[in-house]
Formats: sequence, C-alpha cells, structure tokens
Amino acid sequence: MSDIKEVLITEEEIQNKVKELGEKITEDYRDKDLFLLGILKGAVPFMADIMRKIDLDLEYDFMDVSSYQGTRSMGEVRILKDISTSIVGKDILIVEDIIDTGITLSYLTKVLKSRGANSIEIVTMLSKPSRRKIDLPVKYNGYEIEDYFVIGYGMDYDEKYRALPYIGILDESVYSK
Ligand code: IMP
Ligand code: MG
Repeated sequence: MSDIKEVLITEEEIQNKVKELGEKITEDYRDKDLFLLGILKGAVPFMADIMRKIDLDLEYDFMDVSSYQGTRSMGEVRILKDISTSIVGKDILIVEDIIDTGITLSYLTKVLKSRGANSIEIVTMLSKPSRRKIDLPVKYNGYEIEDYFVIGYGMDYDEKYRALPYIGILDESVYSK
C-alpha cells in the first residue's frame, strides 16, 4: 500500500511472536483463573490470535477506554464500554496493541484492582518506552519500538489501516493531506 513508508514488523514475525507469547502465558497461568481483557478497538486482531495460542481454559471480554480528547493528551481516562461480569478472584491479563504514555493502562489497572481481581498483568504487541509518562509494569511485551507512528494489526490513523495483517510506518504524506 502506497500510504505505508516501511513495513516494520511482517505478518510472519507477528505470528511467531504471538505463538511465543502464548506459550509463556500458558506456562504462567496453568494454575490460575485466566481472564483476557482486550482493549477496543486496537487489540482485536492480537486478542483473536493470542487466545488461540493459549492452551488453557480461559474467559475473555472487552473494554473500551478513551484517554484522549481530540489530539491533545489530557491524561484523563473514560470508560466507554465496561465488562458485564464480576472479576473478583480472577487473574486478569489485559491485552493491548501498543503502550505509549502508559496513562490508559495505569488508570485501568487501578480500577480493576479496586474491583477485587486476584492479579492484573499486561500483554502488549508493541511498546514505545521513550514515550512513557507513567511507570507501568508490562509482563509480556512483543516488540519495543522507537517513537514512530505505526498502523496495522489493529492500529489506526483516523480509523484507517486497522485490518492490515502487518505493522507499518505511515508515510508523512498521509498526515499532510
Ligand atoms: P497510552 O499508552 O495511554 O498513551 O495510549 C495508548 C493508546 O494510544 C494505544 O492503545 C493506541 O490506541 C494509541 N496509540 C499510541 N501510539 C500509537 C501509534 O503509533 N499508532 C496508533 N495508535 C497509537
Ligand atoms: Mg489501544
């Protein structure tokens, strides 16, 4: 696609990483009560892939949280869609596409703790450590990347490119349109 400047992570690399993460999670959660919590909409492809690489009984649901008003990062988080079941005693694994400032998940982790989860951990496909504003422990991390704006595998620019099976860097010409 001509809007893509560079493919950063290929479909094959993503799928190998998903398998590797799924195997680790399977080991770590063998005696736990695993609840995968996907964050809409970006985590949908990763969520669908990773749940099928975890060889355990598990439960899953989605939440939609918003940390941005327009383009300005307000450091403010709102729950747009909540889960409907109780998470008391469950081992929550938050599934995210990318962690940037860490504000969204830091807030969400606090909320879930207050609801009585037994444990809360995070699995993310990508992380941009140089952008972090809040220290956030991330147990499972696919790839750490530089501060590029990336799209594909769930991630969007203006709601586009989410369905691409690879992760790419968007061409600057797209921003200036
Ligand atoms: P934060 O960690 O609270 O700053 O927010 C992370 C969220 O911002 C992610 O779940 C994405 O929805 C979005 N985001 C951050 N960086 C990118 C990017 O490079 N491309 C697409 N979305 C991004
Ligand atoms: Mg997201």
